[in-house]
Amino acid sequence: MSADAVATLAARLRAALRVTVLTGAGVSRASGVPTFRGAEGLWRQFRPEDLATPEAFHRDPALVWEWYAWRREMIAACRPNTAHDVLARWSETGCRVVTQNVDDLHLTAGTRNLVRLHGSIWELACANGCGQPRWRDERVPLPEVPPVCPRCSSLARPAVVWFGEGLAPEDVEAAMHACTCDVFLAVGTSSLVYPAAGLVGEARRGGAFTVEINTERTAASAQVDLAIQAPAEAVLLRVDELRTTNSEPRTLNRT
Ligand SMILES: NC(=O)c1ccc[n+]([C@@H]2O[C@H](COP(=O)([O-])OP(=O)(O)OC[C@H]3O[C@@H](n4cnc5c(N)ncnc54)[C@H](O)[C@@H]3O)[C@@H](O)[C@H]2O)c1
Ligand SMILES: [Zn+2]
Repeated sequence: MSADAVATLAARLRAALRVTVLTGAGVSRASGVPTFRGAEGLWRQFRPEDLATPEAFHRDPALVWEWYAWRREMIAACRPNTAHDVLARWSETGCRVVTQNVDDLHLTAGTRNLVRLHGSIWELACANGCGQPRWRDERVPLPEVPPVCPRCSSLARPAVVWFGEGLAPEDVEAAMHACTCDVFLAVGTSSLVYPAAGLVGEARRGGAFTVEINTERTAASAQVDLAIQAPAEAVLLRVDELRTTNSEPRTLNRT
């Protein structure tokens, strides 16, 4: 982790009035939640892109539910890590957090006004669209897989946004609104899944100082003003420490 880059980010954050953080699966990695991309994301040789679609659910709802039941079980054993904790604290002073994660670990950490672009793995919806509002069910294991809608008894589905589906308009609006900011951080996301991946460009066009924190280089690395290649939990902790100290960092003018 470059000390200069971290000091630059801390200085930018100290001077910023409006800060927005977009998070992805990498933020939950240190909690033990596997990311989608990379070898660890494999589940019985299926690719998430082949399971997290309306077509896959239509074809084989039991298989898709088996995969979600497995993920729910894994996530249930995970606790928020330092990255979630730091962002929850920042949200208390107005930092806006927009996440692609469906694990709700930001909520568990106490993040305020969270925008969950891709829904929640802990919420269910009627696959038949009968008008039953989505409901929360945190039971692990679920007593019945696949579960059914309490109103019309047809199949229930995870209330998450699948590949090929649109995001809730109110979430998109909130995310776009959050792009108007002084500092925009994209943390632990491969920046491949749209429209979330487009937010960093949107923020940049609006004049924000854009930063990426990721263990690897991504599609966004060349686009941002500052790319920090290191684990989110370590960087955010260090930035949080520097941000709250009064001393001016030596690298203040080095952007
Ligand atoms: N935790 C979850 O809720 C979860 C987990 C997997 C996938 N998803 C879903 O998958 C889609 C995938 O998009 P995505 O971009 O969020 O995830 P992704 O799996 O495509 O990418 C994860 C990124 O995190 C980086 N990373 C891994 N460990 C890190 C760490 N400790 N610190 C910083 N970066 C780290 C990787 O280099 C990678 O670029 C989203 O739609 C999301 O809803 C969610
Ligand atoms: Zn129904």
